[in-house]
Amino acid sequence: MTYNTTVDSISPEGAVYYLFGATGDLARRKLFPALFSLYKEGKLSENFAVVGLARRPRTNEQFRSDLYDSINEFCRYKADDAELWNRFSEHFVYMSLDINNVDGFRELNVLSTELDHKFGIPGNRLFYLALAPSLFGPVSFNLRDGGLLESTGWNRLVIEKPFGYDLPSAQKLNEQLNQVFKEEEIFRIDHYLGKEMVQNIQVIRFANAFFEPLWNNNHIANVQITLSETVGVEERGGYYDKSGALRDMGQNHMLQMLTMIAMEPPSRLHGEDIRDEKVKVLRSLRGYTSGDDVRKHVVRGQYSEGQVGSKELPGYRQEDSVDPESSTETYFAAKVFVDNFRWAGVPFYIRTGKRMPVKTTEVVVEFKSMPQNVLFAQKHDLAPNLLVIRVNPMEGIYIKINAKKPGSDNAVQPVSMEFCQSCQIGINTPEAYERLIHDAARGDSTYFTRWDEVSHAWEFVDRIAQAWREEKSDLAFYPAGSWGPEAAGRLLDEEGFHWWPVNGQEEDNVIWITNSGK
Ligand code: BG6
Repeated sequence: MTYNTTVDSISPEGAVYYLFGATGDLARRKLFPALFSLYKEGKLSENFAVVGLARRPRTNEQFRSDLYDSINEFCRYKADDAELWNRFSEHFVYMSLDINNVDGFRELNVLSTELDHKFGIPGNRLFYLALAPSLFGPVSFNLRDGGLLESTGWNRLVIEKPFGYDLPSAQKLNEQLNQVFKEEEIFRIDHYLGKEMVQNIQVIRFANAFFEPLWNNNHIANVQITLSETVGVEERGGYYDKSGALRDMGQNHMLQMLTMIAMEPPSRLHGEDIRDEKVKVLRSLRGYTSGDDVRKHVVRGQYSEGQVGSKELPGYRQEDSVDPESSTETYFAAKVFVDNFRWAGVPFYIRTGKRMPVKTTEVVVEFKSMPQNVLFAQKHDLAPNLLVIRVNPMEGIYIKINAKKPGSDNAVQPVSMEFCQSCQIGINTPEAYERLIHDAARGDSTYFTRWDEVSHAWEFVDRIAQAWREEKSDLAFYPAGSWGPEAAGRLLDEEGFHWWPVNGQEEDNVIWITNSGK
């Protein structure tokens, strides 16, 4: 069987792409490779130009040489066709820019008009700010004052997370952006929304008669979302120590996945309708108001020294740029409720942490058990049915069911049936950033976060953060390389549940039927 794994084939209109932070890590690892893949697949046409912008001086040749290296190191295609490479790289120019000085923006405007003429671009402008959020406001003002928003085409602003530190700071940032851009011109990236399997959640739910009729509190016992990472804070200690896991992963990626699982079917598969439904979920989240409530429902941890294999790992407080007495969490787990008709009473357990044993993102939907006093359940301890959506790094789904053990006298055997998508077509093909840049260039904001989503997510997170601020003592330590504080298990114990193993690490007695070759 062959799959077409290219992003949607409708090409965006021609545009100038302005890459602020062009000498940074994100550009090198993600953005340049994404642009090259799109070009190679004919998704950019020839009517585009990319202006790399950063303070550091660089010639166009040096910039193109960085581009070449980045593609060969990080792109899923190599720049091995000289003719194609020359055609592609001609579209890239570099300009050194002091983002606090409007004169530079005026020069950029002149350069833009030249590029419009050279490449037949109808004045469309896409500004990608791979910059610290404190610079979003100043850059936007200078784009306006430098005349860059006065051309005849559309203007779009693409920005990276974090969008603020809490609700008030996010509101302030949004007010600044709104002085220059309309909401529909702002594309806030949450790269999890660009992942294949996160987008696939909708299809799995709304295109299968197996699932949607059961997708409610009559049939689902609980939902578990795990986003575990093996890395520590690496060289990002300065940022992370002020942020922590709740803000870095909870406010965005985890709540976004939760909304995709919990939302009602949208009336149309249209960006605004989908985002309306997601907002309703965020508004239905039960807010924890008191310190007691937070203590009962949320666990936070920080990694201490530990060992993975023979490798000794430092504790978080020993990491570079981290306060040696830091009480920032590198792990949190929470029991969350979506207080609406569909989900009343169903716990959503979410957890994320750094320095855990495996890198994985998975959603486990646990169905309610069969009545315990009938038929096979009289003799056997029947395992519940599970639907597992594997988001990252392995991608696919599996369901766990009970079947008769062949040759036995009605003994029950758990069986997991898996569709391993990444085994078939490779990991995250196309890459999240490829899809998101292409969507932004086409004006499709479905997989970007709208302001009301961001603000409701902050409201939820701020309540927890406030309780933590007031009660510093709640931090639990876990050794690097472990699954986090034990208290996270107690969140589920109360209801008689447990965290399901992730990363395909199933119990021994389960038979696997899979296309992964295992
Ligand atoms: C980022 C966080 O948003 O997501 C990082 O800031 C985290 O701390 C990363 O490591 C995880 O993304 P992925 O795609 O590697 O799971």
